[in-house]
Amino acid sequence: MEQDSSRLMKEAAGKAAVDALVKSGMKLGLGTGSTAVHAVRRVGELLAQGVLRDISAFATSFQTEIECEKLGIPVYSLNSKELSCGLDITIDGADEVDPQNRLIKGGGGAMLIEKLAAYSSTLFAIIVDESKLVQNMGTGFPVPVEVVPSARVQAARVFEKLGASVIIREALRKAGPVITEHGNLILDIRFGSPVDPVTMETELNKTPGVVENGFFTGNIPVVYIAHSDGTIETRGVK
Ligand code: 5RP
Repeated sequence: MEQDSSRLMKEAAGKAAVDALVKSGMKLGLGTGSTAVHAVRRVGELLAQGVLRDISAFATSFQTEIECEKLGIPVYSLNSKELSCGLDITIDGADEVDPQNRLIKGGGGAMLIEKLAAYSSTLFAIIVDESKLVQNMGTGFPVPVEVVPSARVQAARVFEKLGASVIIREALRKAGPVITEHGNLILDIRFGSPVDPVTMETELNKTPGVVENGFFTGNIPVVYIAHSDGTIETRGVK
């Protein structure tokens, strides 16, 4: 069960970002996870109140799509005429945020489509509680790498040569590995010492069979950080 204090911080970060950034008529990317869902709910609430109008959304996972359905948020494909020109803002959670606002994402296994949304948005906004802030990356939260099933062993060998230990992500309430929404597997990799996320984001994707990895360094986000004292800190706001 999620602690109340943690839920309250996530909710506060989601509300702060939506209230500050989302305007009527926008095309929104909506992220995945227990923090991002609070931003989705806030958008739904403001639409229901008539404060927001004409929102077109792109959902980064089944979880988010289902939440949008419940809330009456119109969802479109990124290839649709409504969204193919790109998104105004994507709001999402993260597993780690470093001092330069670079990220590790994919704790919920949705990093492939989350990155598509993030990198096709004019503004990328991240909402986190203070527990997600780190000094460096690679040794803490494991970096998820989505691989096609046939690449499981070969890709793991490449990552081990890069200095990482590799664990195949196991499903809960299903025997065997997690199967992503694209029919792939997730290898969670952790390095023996900190790595440069910019180099590693590119390096990991060079491995045959890798579909995407959880380093996000290509569209530096603004970050809304909820602290346990109830304050919201914003970092990188332009
Ligand atoms: C899903 C993600 C999530 O945004 C990330 O794992 C953070 O999740 P939570 O807000 O539940 O801690 O990247 O793929």
